[in-house]
Amino acid sequence: MNEQIDNLMNESRRFAPSAEFAAQSVAGSDSYDRGAAGAEFWADQARDLLHWHTPFTQTLDWSNAPFARWFADGELNVSYNCLDRHVAEGRGDRVALHWEGEPGDSRRITYAELTHDVKRAANVLTQLGIEPGDRVAIYMPLIPEALVAMLAVARLGAIHSVVFGGFSAESLRSRVDDAGAKLVITADGGYRKGNVFALKPVVDEALAADGGQNTVTNVLVVRRGNNDVAWHEGRDVWWHESVDAASSEHEAQAFPAEQPLFILYTSGTTGKPKGILHTSGGYLTQAAYTHKNVFDLRADTDVYWCTADVGWITGHTYVVYGPLANGATQVIYEGTPDSPHPGRWWEIIQKYGVSILYTAPTAIRSFMKLGSEIPAQYVLSSIRLLGSVGEPINPEAWIWYRDVVGAGTAPIVDTWWQTETGAIMISALPGLTTLKPGSAQVPLPGISIDILDEAGEKVSGEAGGLLVVTQPWPSMLRGIWGDNDRFRETYWEKFGDKYFAGDGARRDADGDIWLLGRVDDVMNVSGHRLSTAEIESSLVANPMVAEAAVVGAADETTGQAVVAFVILRASEAGKLEPAEASAVLRQHVATHIGAIARPARIYIVSELPKTRSGKIMRRLLRDVAEGREIGDTTTLTDQNVLNLISTQVH
Ligand code: PRX
Repeated sequence: MNEQIDNLMNESRRFAPSAEFAAQSVAGSDSYDRGAAGAEFWADQARDLLHWHTPFTQTLDWSNAPFARWFADGELNVSYNCLDRHVAEGRGDRVALHWEGEPGDSRRITYAELTHDVKRAANVLTQLGIEPGDRVAIYMPLIPEALVAMLAVARLGAIHSVVFGGFSAESLRSRVDDAGAKLVITADGGYRKGNVFALKPVVDEALAADGGQNTVTNVLVVRRGNNDVAWHEGRDVWWHESVDAASSEHEAQAFPAEQPLFILYTSGTTGKPKGILHTSGGYLTQAAYTHKNVFDLRADTDVYWCTADVGWITGHTYVVYGPLANGATQVIYEGTPDSPHPGRWWEIIQKYGVSILYTAPTAIRSFMKLGSEIPAQYVLSSIRLLGSVGEPINPEAWIWYRDVVGAGTAPIVDTWWQTETGAIMISALPGLTTLKPGSAQVPLPGISIDILDEAGEKVSGEAGGLLVVTQPWPSMLRGIWGDNDRFRETYWEKFGDKYFAGDGARRDADGDIWLLGRVDDVMNVSGHRLSTAEIESSLVANPMVAEAAVVGAADETTGQAVVAFVILRASEAGKLEPAEASAVLRQHVATHIGAIARPARIYIVSELPKTRSGKIMRRLLRDVAEGREIGDTTTLTDQNVLNLISTQVH
């Protein structure tokens, strides 16, 4: 791995900013000098970029580390910042959303219209009893109402927990329970790959579990898919009957900067997802700053498109809060890139004149596979800046992205960050940074990053180790919902007051940072985080399974693919052919957790490689799954196990 990275680092090409871009960069050439002020730099951004109902006098309070408080005596309303103030300042007629439905329907929504919609929805939520601090689960397709729902919850000082629409009833239920959600906002269904996928029936199933005992009092349902849905009188409310009829008068109240804004569940190293908690003022400050400066945003002329779903952190920060706080005009698209034809994304870019595109390497690699002829059929000349997120982008995909989508001139920002960091932490600044394909490059102004060895010592010069953030940052997580101990243990125990990100990294001779992937049992599949432990416990919950081990194996398109090794119970062995058993179990995981967790391959084996203390040696299984020569097996109890597995697999 290190050798590969060394080669990449040595061979990497460099792209200096064009004189034209550099002369007009939004970030400004003094960005890094200003960033050196640390917390004070962020206080300047908070004042410049946001509207404060009550200005703050305190910047950072780290006295109760690792629980940070930013701008704590200030008050603001996040929804007001994303909506009302743009209207008040004369930008009401600017398009906020160009929404494109998968079947080809579309809607154009201005800031004035979006503000009205959110005010109406906020009035309905109040009628349904939602108060500041209450939790609201959102389980929706990517339609404008998903954004309206999030902003309405935020407007009331309540806390949203968006659950990606691909998660199963069981996953939804565990998130609803963990947060103690009072309301679920959903849709009958949405469009995906040319079909309607049902959502409301999944909500019904989730809420029916445990004899229907749960914390939810109402389900608010948007009509989108027109699929049949069951109706629970007294609990279920149609959006079009309530929101459309509600008053659009609603004054945004001020809330303290540390008012919780949302919980977003993400996978960790155990079977139980973590509810990452973000708050208001600091989060919005860094969301707005990074969105403006990393994407070189000119809000009055740019058309920005981030392809993420609102179910992920990228959708929270770079579809909802960053762009709307900055008054940007953006495109959102409900469906998949290949529906109904493989040129769909390029068609959308051409239709709306998209100038900034932010997407994931996995998407870029699948377009590469389909061939450059497809994008070549569309006019992409509006593109002036490209972004990448979610996993390292291989230089080949970087160059393709720049040449084919960016006409060989658009700068690419490779942005490193996490659900926990809330906003971008490491990235080039367009116009300032000489770009290097494959490297996420440098910490943003105001962000302090270091690379440490296992013992917590800084590694200096050209070297590799573990990535840490050494100073608190405004959009940092404020905890794990309901589990402060896990918060401390996961991120702070290893290196004291430095935040341990869970990623390996190397620094090259120029000081640029190259991300090397996770150092824990977390996989990264198509830019989404999945836990090996969560999929293993799902597999062993199936009565056929005696034991299971899951690894992330390198995959050309998705970065990593989920590969499972399963031992069947003696009573089951022989009942099904291995291929059939594997198909049944793949479906089991999809039903249990959600389609995104479905293993790409499941091998039915008779043994698993273990150390003398009984720990499964995943490293060796990864070698097997990737078809590599098997590494050091000296700690393995039984050397024959691997030979056996290899013959069963290949
Ligand atoms: O391993 C890193 C990888 O994605 C992880 C965070 O996943 P998640 O919380 O789901 O957020 C994804 C979107 C921000 C990180 O720990 N990762 C994210 N961006 C990059 C990356 N790895 C390399 N380069 C990136 N640009």
